[in-house]
Amino acid sequence: MVDTKFGEQLIDPADTQDEELIGMDLLRACEGAALNVFHWIGKGNKEAADDAATDALRGLLDLTDMCGTCTIGEGIKDQAPGIFIGEKLGTWRAGSPVVSIAVDPIDGTTLTAKGLAGALTVIAAAKNSGVDQRALAAIPSFYVEKIAFGPKVREGTGTVRLGAPVEQNLEIVALKLGKRVRDLVVCLLDRPRHQKLIEEIRRTGAAIRLIGDGDVAAAIAPSNPDSGVDAYMGIGGSPEAVIAAAAIRCMGGEILARMWPRDDDERKQLEADGHGDMMKRVFTTTDLAVGEDIVFVATGITDNTMLRGVQVNGHIAVTYSVVMRAHSRTVRYVKAFHDLTFKTIHLASTSRHTRL
Ligand code: FBP
Repeated sequence: MVDTKFGEQLIDPADTQDEELIGMDLLRACEGAALNVFHWIGKGNKEAADDAATDALRGLLDLTDMCGTCTIGEGIKDQAPGIFIGEKLGTWRAGSPVVSIAVDPIDGTTLTAKGLAGALTVIAAAKNSGVDQRALAAIPSFYVEKIAFGPKVREGTGTVRLGAPVEQNLEIVALKLGKRVRDLVVCLLDRPRHQKLIEEIRRTGAAIRLIGDGDVAAAIAPSNPDSGVDAYMGIGGSPEAVIAAAAIRCMGGEILARMWPRDDDERKQLEADGHGDMMKRVFTTTDLAVGEDIVFVATGITDNTMLRGVQVNGHIAVTYSVVMRAHSRTVRYVKAFHDLTFKTIHLASTSRHTRL
């Protein structure tokens, strides 16, 4: 704090964390992406929806005073019109915070195209401590195997381990939460690759919530006591694991992840690229999202467990977002009203502020 000549105290910029400063810009970017995608909800065109979200997100991040580099993005997953690894984001004005960015303009593009619940725009930023540091991990595989649980499960003795028998892990979760295993709720993506895992979980008596898509929110859910989900398990996108880790760092829970090559070709390619050792490694939350200067922002596109989706009533659009910081562990929910007769969004495609 510094004193002014009038005696009141002002915040010294040195007391303000960088991620606190860019949090508002990241919020604006996520809101803009969700608003720009609104007209594509339920239109059956996931590429156009992804394009609209990406155009707004990139365009708004271009106005943010940060030296951002995308360390993991959507591009690797499906050649979607995403924001790609290595892409420079922000103004790169001298003195701006140097941050790693992990972003998914839409987590749940298929859900958006079908007009189903569960789609979000998400972005995580973490301050790099050195020139070569990536504060958000760059995982080279398409998928990782994940397990996520909340703060209470992290505490005390007995640890959930990736690769341990399902029954053993669920017994630990139940014990820490003071529940019976049969009262637990485990969330996972509804995929044929999870058939064995589904059977193993059901054998323990625990209940399963199968989701069609959107495992960023699903992996965060056990860290939110109101979600009704006690653990998240299964194989999903690598960028989604890193983004979820940023949020989980802000909430005190844990996500463990290990690379999961889809087939022999991907395994061989990863080995040829020098990632052989990395494939065996279990990444913890702090490996995926490093340091304390982490911010996570999400805006609902369609309704989901964490946030409501965009609503438009006449000329007013309403967005629901969450902004979290690891430093203070603050989780802020932001409901914003946007007057569409005034609202403009800076789009990357035109480099101009454009009416919705
Ligand atoms: P996108 O909407 O970004 O394509 O991702 C949706 C999603 O369900 C993620 O949440 C999840 O991590 C991943 O896809 C799982 O991949 P797949 O659909 O190939 O099983």
